[in-house]
Amino acid sequence: MPTHRTHTIHLFKEQTQVPCNPDSTLLEATLAAHINHAHACGGQGKCSTCRVSIMEGLAHCSPPNDAEREMAEKLKFPPEIRLACQTKLIGNVSIRRMVSDKLDLDIISQQFSENSNSALGSQQRLTIVFTDIVNYTSFAEKFPPYDIVHVLNRYYRIMNTTIQKNEGFISDVAGDGILAIFGLDNPKQNSVLLALKAIEEMNSSLIEFNVYLQENFNTSFGIRAGVHYGDVIVGPFDTGEMKKLAVIGDNVNYASRIEFANKEFNTNVLLSEAAYHEVKNLYPNYNVFETSLKGKTGQYKLYEII
Ligand code: FES
Repeated sequence: MPTHRTHTIHLFKEQTQVPCNPDSTLLEATLAAHINHAHACGGQGKCSTCRVSIMEGLAHCSPPNDAEREMAEKLKFPPEIRLACQTKLIGNVSIRRMVSDKLDLDIISQQFSENSNSALGSQQRLTIVFTDIVNYTSFAEKFPPYDIVHVLNRYYRIMNTTIQKNEGFISDVAGDGILAIFGLDNPKQNSVLLALKAIEEMNSSLIEFNVYLQENFNTSFGIRAGVHYGDVIVGPFDTGEMKKLAVIGDNVNYASRIEFANKEFNTNVLLSEAAYHEVKNLYPNYNVFETSLKGKTGQYKLYEII
């Protein structure tokens, strides 16, 4: 015999509790309690604005129905993100509404319309590459800002083409530094190998670029790179004016430190231990360095392909 016991929804942000009977959806229960719960499509499972994060009691939620499964697949929802309009309860839950004001609504509407693979932010195992330019500082000291900006833009454009050709993307640039990510679109590929190919081709592109630099500025550049493989958080970061797909996390800092260690060992490309394990059967010979890295405790092995 079906139970009609009323369950309790604890709303984390509002610090309140509302009752939910087994025949009602989460959304119906919160609206009945006069919570201003966004539901742009009217509860049809088509907009995702009613999404909630189940903080406790995920096992007390009904399994996702077809509409919710389709939405979750499209927007890459982790299991704890549920559509309140499609979810019923068999026990108590604690939830956090994810769309709480107009700004949230704008951001989510935009993500929804873009239908990006990384629309919501997710943790992924990727290859992270930091590069900087050998000789950049002496160049920047000698030439006026116009020339510096122009040369950097030319450099970024050439390197972006090379990185994209090898299925990477530039997540960020700062001064002469590039942060590039590989493995986002096709996790089954060896993303460290893609990154190493990209670095090799960046160096090839640099030969032609250096002809231009010699002719115009009597200088030439080199590239130093740090390569790491690990979990990062990928997501669209949006200031309203500027938006970009960015990666964050300790592994990003780690890749940056590895790049920096090139100066200490007078090398051009260094791999972390995790990156090395991905390609050690493809590149058999290495120089191995052991060092501490700024901001990290312990000793780290870094690998140079020879
Ligand atoms: S209200 Fe639109 S998906 Fe739930």
